[in-house]
Amino acid sequence: MASPIRVVVTGAAGQIAYSLIYQIAKGDVFGADQPLVLLLLDIPPMMGVLEGVVMEIHDCALPLVAGVVPTDDPAVAFKDVDAAFLVGSMPRKQGMERKDLLSANVKIFKVQGEALDKHAKKNVKVLVVGNPANTNALICSKYAPSIPRGNFTAMTRLDQNRGRAQVAARLGVAVGKVRNVIIWGNHSATQVPDVGSATVEVGGKAVPVRDAVKDDAWLLGEFITTIQKRGAAVIAARKMSSAMSAAKAAGDHMHDLWQGTAPGEFVSMGVVSDGSYGAPKDIVFSFPVTIQNKEWKIVQGLSVDDKLKPLLEATGSELLEEKAEALAVCKH
Ligand code: NAI
Repeated sequence: MASPIRVVVTGAAGQIAYSLIYQIAKGDVFGADQPLVLLLLDIPPMMGVLEGVVMEIHDCALPLVAGVVPTDDPAVAFKDVDAAFLVGSMPRKQGMERKDLLSANVKIFKVQGEALDKHAKKNVKVLVVGNPANTNALICSKYAPSIPRGNFTAMTRLDQNRGRAQVAARLGVAVGKVRNVIIWGNHSATQVPDVGSATVEVGGKAVPVRDAVKDDAWLLGEFITTIQKRGAAVIAARKMSSAMSAAKAAGDHMHDLWQGTAPGEFVSMGVVSDGSYGAPKDIVFSFPVTIQNKEWKIVQGLSVDDKLKPLLEATGSELLEEKAEALAVCKH
């Protein structure tokens, strides 16, 4: 058996963590043979609830769990970690846009960036889930200068999964048949879901989704707005923000970072922009990436429909605005 890796989940007493910890602990993310020590961070008032989560982890009797450390101290939580799921923050309430959350949440990611810088392994893989995820990831990396910027990623995988599910439902096929749906930009209502490079497997052959759906008006219209507004629709129905699906997406994202992407397949994640596809540089922008040896690479040379180009510009502008606001908040 391999020696245990150290994995931190922040917001460990919250609703996303409640689904996520189980996936991690049973081997879905880092592999069925990879033991791990779980470091669970939340804030002091949540320590009682967290104690209950710890009891349940023990009661799951999962053989890969080599230790569980609940704590409210970032210095303990981030000590020598190999992988970090930064979930902890204030969730969006009904009627709130992610921007409203920015000032409240960005400071958490400054503090956690500093703690990662001081205590984590230098090759730690950091996934930011807490919103506004892209900008939080940017701030976190800024305050962790000793860790490579490429090690910080933000989650748009839930949007990608939503996109695959919508296309699969439209075509009446299993979701596993739909590949390479892209999410560009911010994990917000300005995100750009794009099926221009997506395929669906029909009779063992990969067919472009556009040819299979045969309805560009839907693919460039209602499909996009459905994905953009899906988070708000779940909140309206559940009165709470997406949790089971967010946890699944966080597991998928880290799984692919750790294990790599399948040949011919790419996934979307927020990464520090190098200006590819005309996106502004130095913001965390969601791009299609492939992953090998735990390193991601932006997929180059994909064609983007002219109708989507202004949308890509708008989501990039929103991220520049968020960055300016976040930097101003962090100065105080
Ligand atoms: P929740 O409110 O159930 O749990 C959040 C937990 O974080 C709470 O236990 C809270 O005490 C804890 N927390 C707050 N400040 C903290 C800090 N400084 N350090 C450690 N823990 C802290 O919220 P939920 O539903 O689990 O959502 C968490 C975040 O994930 C929210 O920001 C939400 O908007 C975001 N989210 C992101 C998605 C994405 O696709 N990127 C999708 C769905 C949610």
